[in-house]
Amino acid sequence: MIRTAIIIGSTRPNRNGEAVARWVFDIARKRADAEFELVDLRDFNLPLLDEPVPPAMGQYSKDHTKAWSAKIDSFDAFVFVTPEYNHSTSGALKNALDFIYKEWNNKSAGFVSYGSAGGARAVEQLRLIMAELQIADVRAQVMLSLFTDFENMSVFKPDPRHEKSVNTMLDQVIEWGKALKSLRIG
Ligand SMILES: Cc1cc2nc3c(=O)[nH]c(=O)nc-3n(C[C@H](O)[C@H](O)[C@H](O)COP(=O)(O)O)c2cc1C
Repeated sequence: MIRTAIIIGSTRPNRNGEAVARWVFDIARKRADAEFELVDLRDFNLPLLDEPVPPAMGQYSKDHTKAWSAKIDSFDAFVFVTPEYNHSTSGALKNALDFIYKEWNNKSAGFVSYGSAGGARAVEQLRLIMAELQIADVRAQVMLSLFTDFENMSVFKPDPRHEKSVNTMLDQVIEWGKALKSLRIG
């Protein structure tokens, strides 16, 4: 059974991201083909990257880096729940991605985004970052509109049709996650 993290990519007070990620988690946990865990960046309290050696060298000196490394290392696949800030993902998520390296490699990922244009621009940027982290990002993605999937842009009321797209995205993430596991073991 592969382990999939659903990562909340926003840390600000009053974030919409937590409700979105909990909704994804509730859909995911009905499935029997993978294990799922919600991972909240807030719980790791990462500062701006403060490791003296580039993360790809794997020489972590700080306890917060070691805790983040151990958590991400325990997964085979990821779902990034991302806001769109100035046409990109959040600084908090980019920083968390930058902090470690090999823990991301040869694993799969999918995206759930939200914003005025469904967060599409944030995901396009994340896809470029995935290549450098050697994460295989799947085609299917879930785009939620601040105008039609939230009341007053703050109370999450997703259109029911999105549940199907969450499962389509998870199908791809899980299949690729299983396939890539053999690369890491072999
Ligand atoms: C710093 C900042 C920049 C933003 N820039 C965009 C943007 O470029 N495009 C967009 O659709 N929404 C933008 N928004 C609106 C966010 O999509 C919206 O506030 C969303 O709820 C943010 O996610 P969060 O509540 O989980 O932090 C921005 C919000 C913030 C705080």
